[in-house]
Amino acid sequence: MEYKIQEVSKKLEVPESTIRYWETEFSELIMPKRTPGGQRRYSQRDLDHLAQIKKLLHLKNRTISQAKTILKSGNEDVEKINWGKQTILLTGGTGSFGKYFCKTMIEKYHPRIIRVYSRDELKQHEMRQTFGEDVIRYFIGDVRDADRLKRAMEGVDIVVHAAALKQVPSCEYNPFEAVKTNIHGAENIIDAAIDVGVKKVVALSTDKAVNPANLYGATKLCAEKIFVQGNAYSGSRGTRFSCVRYGNVIGSRGSVIPLFKEQKKTGKITITDGRMTRFWISLERAVELVIMALRHAQGGEIFVPKIPSMKVVDLAKAVAPECEIEIIGIRPGEKLHESLITEEEGRNAIFYKGMYIVLPNYTWWEERRNYKTAQKLPDGFIYTSNLNDEWLGVEDLRKLLYDPSFAEEESASRFLSTLHRLNEKVVLGLLNTEEGFSETPNTASVLP
Ligand SMILES: NC(=O)c1ccc[n+]([C@@H]2O[C@H](COP(=O)([O-])OP(=O)(O)OC[C@H]3O[C@@H](n4cnc5c(N)ncnc54)[C@H](OP(=O)(O)O)[C@@H]3O)[C@@H](O)[C@H]2O)c1
Repeated sequence: MEYKIQEVSKKLEVPESTIRYWETEFSELIMPKRTPGGQRRYSQRDLDHLAQIKKLLHLKNRTISQAKTILKSGNEDVEKINWGKQTILLTGGTGSFGKYFCKTMIEKYHPRIIRVYSRDELKQHEMRQTFGEDVIRYFIGDVRDADRLKRAMEGVDIVVHAAALKQVPSCEYNPFEAVKTNIHGAENIIDAAIDVGVKKVVALSTDKAVNPANLYGATKLCAEKIFVQGNAYSGSRGTRFSCVRYGNVIGSRGSVIPLFKEQKKTGKITITDGRMTRFWISLERAVELVIMALRHAQGGEIFVPKIPSMKVVDLAKAVAPECEIEIIGIRPGEKLHESLITEEEGRNAIFYKGMYIVLPNYTWWEERRNYKTAQKLPDGFIYTSNLNDEWLGVEDLRKLLYDPSFAEEESASRFLSTLHRLNEKVVLGLLNTEEGFSETPNTASVLP
C-alpha cells in the first residue's frame, strides 16, 4: 500500500509542509518513493514512522533532536513511567502477588491510584486494614464479568492482570471454571482495555503454560496467546498487551513447606521423584519483572526472568535433614522439570537487562523497534529448570528458610538477599509451590 502526501497529511492531521520538513529531518527513517513525475509515494512503514514522530513532537513535547535519539535507539518506551499520573487496575489485587505489588508501588513508585479488582470482600477488607484507602481503591468484581470490568477500567492507564485460578487440582476438577476465569477472563480484559483506551496491559503467566501437562497450564497458555495476539485488535487505539512468565513464587499462597514440616514430625518426607527440579522466584523479583515489562513493553512480548533452580530433594533436606525421604512416584499432570522457554520460542527470544524476552513473530510487531542493545540467544537455546546455570543448594535453601541474617552477608547472592527483604511472612519460610498437588495432606510433597 502506498500513500500520496495529501493522504498522509489527512491521516495524520498534519500539514503537507510539516511532513516534508520531517522527511528532511528524519531522512534515515522516511524514504518515500518518487513517481516518474516526481510525486512522493509513502509506504506503510513511512506512515508509521511519521506517526511516531508526530507523537513524540506533538504529544510528548520532545525536541527534534530528542526524537531522533529516541527513534534511533528505539527506546521510546524505556523512559521512566510517570507513576504519579498513573491509575492502575490490578486484577487479583488481594492475592500474594497483588499485595506485594501494592506494597512496592506505594513505597517506591507512588502511583496516583491502584484499583484492586477481585471477588471476595473479606480479602479486600483485610487488605484495607493494612493498606488503607489513600492510594488503593477496592473494586468487587469478577474477571468473567465483561461489563463490570469495563466500568472498573474507566480512566485507567495501566492494567496488571494477576487474577487466576491457579491450583492444579482445582483446575483439573473444575475444568469449565478454569476456562471461564483464566481464558474468558483474559479475553474480557483485552476487550475492556481496548474499549476504554488503556495504554498498557501486562498479564501474569507461569512456567506451567509452557508445553502444558495440566489444564491450569493449558488455560494459561491460551491466555498468553490471546494477550500476545490481542495486540492485533487494538489498532489505532494503541493499547499494548504483554505477558510475564515465571516459576514458583516463594511467599505466595499455598506452600509445600508447611507440609514438609508436618511430615517432619513423622520422621518421613514423601516426594514424587528424586530427580524433580523447579524454578524459584521471590515476590519482589516477580513484582520488579512486571514493572520492567510495563516500562519496556511494545506489545506482544513475553518477559521471562533469569532465576535459579532447585532440586525438590534439596528442599526436603533443607527443611528436615534428619528425615527419611520416601519416593512415591510422579503424578498425573506433573512434570519432572519445568520449562520457561522452549526451543521454538528461543529462536525468537533475546536477552535484555537480566531477562529473556520472547518476541512476537507477527507482522504488527515488525515496525516496533526496541531492544537494540539486546543479546541474541545461541542456536538451540532452551530454558528449563534442570539445565539452569544458577542453582540453590541445600545450604542456600536452609539459610533461606532459617537464617534471615544471611541476607546481610555480602557474599549472599542477589536472589537470596532479596528474599530476606520481603515481608515477615515470607522470611518465615512460606515457600510456595503455587498450583501444587501438595495440598492433599499426608500424601506427597509433590511440587507443582
Ligand atoms: N504463585 C505462583 O507461584 C505463581 C507462579 C507463576 C505465575 N503465577 C501467576 O501469578 C498470578 C497471581 O498469583 P498469586 O500467587 O498472587 O495468586 P493468589 O494468591 O491465588 O491470588 C489470586 C487473586 O486472584 C483473584 N481472583 C481469582 N479469581 C478471580 C476472578 N474470577 N475474578 C477476579 N479476581 C479473581 C483472587 O481474589 P478473589 O478470590 O477474592 O477473587 C486473588 O486476589 C496468577 O495469574 C498466577 O497464575 C503465580
